[in-house]
Amino acid sequence: MELSSLLLPSILLFSFLCSALILFFKQDPPQKPTKSTILKGYPIIGNLPLFIKNYQRIVYWVAELTSTSPTGTVTVDPFVFTANPSNVEHLTRTNFHNYPKGDSISATFHDFLGRGILNVNGEDWLIQRKAASFDFNTKSLRAFVHDKVRRQTSDTLIPLLRRASRSGEVLDLQDVLERFAFGNICKLVLDRDPKCLSRGSEEGEQFYHAFLETSVLSVQRTLTPFSLMWKLGKWLNFGRERRLRKSREIVLQFVEKCVKSRREQSGGGGGSDFLSRLVADRSHSDAFIRDIMISFVIAGGDTTPSALTWFFWVLSSNTQVAEKIREEIKLVRSRHGDYESEVLTLDGLREMRYLHAAVSESMRLHPPAPLLSRECQEEDELPDGTRVGKGWTVMYSPYAMGRAEGIWGKDCGEFRPERWMEDGVFQPASPFRYSVFHAGPRMCLGKDMAYIQIKAVAASILEAFDVEVVEERGKLQLSTTMRMAGGLPVRVRERK
Ligand code: HEM
Repeated sequence: MELSSLLLPSILLFSFLCSALILFFKQDPPQKPTKSTILKGYPIIGNLPLFIKNYQRIVYWVAELTSTSPTGTVTVDPFVFTANPSNVEHLTRTNFHNYPKGDSISATFHDFLGRGILNVNGEDWLIQRKAASFDFNTKSLRAFVHDKVRRQTSDTLIPLLRRASRSGEVLDLQDVLERFAFGNICKLVLDRDPKCLSRGSEEGEQFYHAFLETSVLSVQRTLTPFSLMWKLGKWLNFGRERRLRKSREIVLQFVEKCVKSRREQSGGGGGSDFLSRLVADRSHSDAFIRDIMISFVIAGGDTTPSALTWFFWVLSSNTQVAEKIREEIKLVRSRHGDYESEVLTLDGLREMRYLHAAVSESMRLHPPAPLLSRECQEEDELPDGTRVGKGWTVMYSPYAMGRAEGIWGKDCGEFRPERWMEDGVFQPASPFRYSVFHAGPRMCLGKDMAYIQIKAVAASILEAFDVEVVEERGKLQLSTTMRMAGGLPVRVRERK
């Protein structure tokens, strides 16, 4: 037998034994009994067999577990999974400081995200949060985002869909929406258009693929049962880790070029947005600015296409909702005398309340970020009585919460935008029940921006086209967000 064929099993066995021992000795079990459902593990290896069996379907698994627990919380030592709104409030707001992003998850994403806002705690996080918070709530940013979306929709998206309608070609709508959103966020954050929707730039296309691959491979690290496996792979520059290193290099080089050019611009006055201000501050290194930019591209680039893809998938079996949205568009257009552009104005979009409800309802069932994790610093008790040990990982699941009867009632499995409306007015839900955008001090900064993008694109497509899903899909693939496995093949037809 060749040496190379013995190498992999030996590495796997070695890392399994090391990880089992580390897990066994590292975690402090809670001292008092707990009230949540507890899955009992085996001596020494604990719940490892359960994780190995389920880690590839962790989103579904957590939803199944929490739905059978009376408190919506299940302890699978050293993890706590919860779909309980009081616990979410505790983790994200009341006891926020005890639940930062964990060291192990930060280490897993460090190669990609470095010290960017999505991957850090403490001072590093606060600097970025403070710098960005002001801009994300300004009228000028909303107008800027709307302008970028309007241009790209009219100049590239609608013409592309028209061509597909005329040729009868089947399109992968997920791919189209991902390319659209990526171009949009790159323009906003990097001040570069990789032209990935029109495939008009070789460098942009390479950057886009490398970015996607780096995201997927980084997430696959978290799904490796033992972190030692990917660390060894990285050390040996082997398999997936070798691909990750290559794609990451391409991403870093592209973004570093953007940092340099923004730094040059800032020397000559630059812009007044938060990134221009950070770039102008010479106390921040190029690498720090690069990491910040990558975090914002991920945060804004992956989430909105996920929301839109599932939205069109849901609408394909709820055609009456699509018709109601079209009626709302007609009404808003006639109220404003707005017939100039394929994209509604910002005021028009704000008045699209039923569309707002339909988008929110779709994300309730298909949240772009289905599972969020935090690490407990000091032993604690959650509001539902669950004991959490020091060093344990607590995961809350917007996916499970969106499907919980205790939160949404008996019809929780139905897609019903009307549940969000009262007398024609949209009724928002508490972020602790509807945790799609997270909650507390680390709540999503781009929520308003996301609704502008999603509503603008959804309304423009629905007004101009009928969208027919040609192959039944609906299984999720976990990347940094919830993607649809195999894409969303559709045929579009222009409407009169
Ligand atoms: C439907 C679209 C979106 C959804 C569902 C969403 C959801 C989320 C969630 C769940 C988090 C918390 C992540 C965590 O702490 O682990 C988050 C954070 C964040 N989001 Fe979004 N997001 C969306 C769109 C956007 C957009 C368009 C931007 C704009 C760039 C954005 C910027 C951010 C930032 C900067 C953070 C980090 C906040 C912090 O740690 O303080 N998001 N988002």
